[in-house]
Amino acid sequence: MDDTRIFDEKMSRRGLIKGAAGVAGIAALTAGGLGFLSKADAAKASPAALPWPYKKCTAEEIKQAGNIAHDNWFKGFCSYAVLSGGVEILRKKIGEPYASFPMELTTFAHGGTSGWGGTCGTLIGAGVLSTLCAGPKVGEAINNEVINFYATTSLPIFVPDHPKAQIRTQSVSNSPLCHLSVGKWMQKEGVGFLSPQQMDRCGRLAADMCMKTLELLNLWADGKFEAKTKAPVFANEIPSQNNCTDCHGSNVPKTSGPFGTGLDLLKAGH
Ligand code: HEC
Repeated sequence: MDDTRIFDEKMSRRGLIKGAAGVAGIAALTAGGLGFLSKADAAKASPAALPWPYKKCTAEEIKQAGNIAHDNWFKGFCSYAVLSGGVEILRKKIGEPYASFPMELTTFAHGGTSGWGGTCGTLIGAGVLSTLCAGPKVGEAINNEVINFYATTSLPIFVPDHPKAQIRTQSVSNSPLCHLSVGKWMQKEGVGFLSPQQMDRCGRLAADMCMKTLELLNLWADGKFEAKTKAPVFANEIPSQNNCTDCHGSNVPKTSGPFGTGLDLLKAGH
């Protein structure tokens, strides 16, 4: 079966659309790209204003972060895994404010946010990590690249030092949604949810997202980070992914109008 087509004939197209309704809204939250919080606003909001100090990680440290992320998946699932993988390394290298940062902040995001199959929790943890280190605007641009990597790459890639299960399969999600990503992979591997294989796969995938975020932060620290991916909201005139036909079949609805001028309201407020 085609890798981009997971749901078999047992599930009707209409059933799929209904089932996906909740997650489409959650996905909308990731498609921003506005960067409207000024540095002054951020400073006003918190004494530990972003960005926090960042020091480039060595290849060895990035690999260590990957192993921490993988192992921590089994303590607090995917979002905790990515965030703690990065923060544990930065605690060792830099200390405060990372030392007192609550790494459990995004634990709720596992299973596509509290198990609702929305945006993969790894991407929420990755976005918090990149935002801590590079601030809200660059942090979001880095997260956008991480999401593109997540959606377009055959994953997982990372092979941990201490795997809890052997796995055979890599798959392309074509989407940032937990539901599609883990669903396609489980179908290909032939295992169910909460099998040791699925859990280890998600742990490895958490390592991949943690390491990718640190690699992009390194590029940014060198002044070499380029935002290459256009957030789909700008291409599609609706917060979205680019895999319209996965859910809509061949009958993709048109949006009810082009972009409005509402963004002016944001600028006017600052
Ligand atoms: C993850 C599944 C999913 C993907 C991917 C997706 N959509 Fe949707 N979309 C939905 C669901 C569910 C609805 C609500 C449909 C309903 O209630 O009948 C919807 C509704 C819409 C609507 C509102 C009009 C309507 O008929 O409800 C538009 C416009 C739309 N989608 C466009 C797109 C475009 C363009 C893309 C690709 C860029 C896309 N969608 C990708 C799931 C998805």
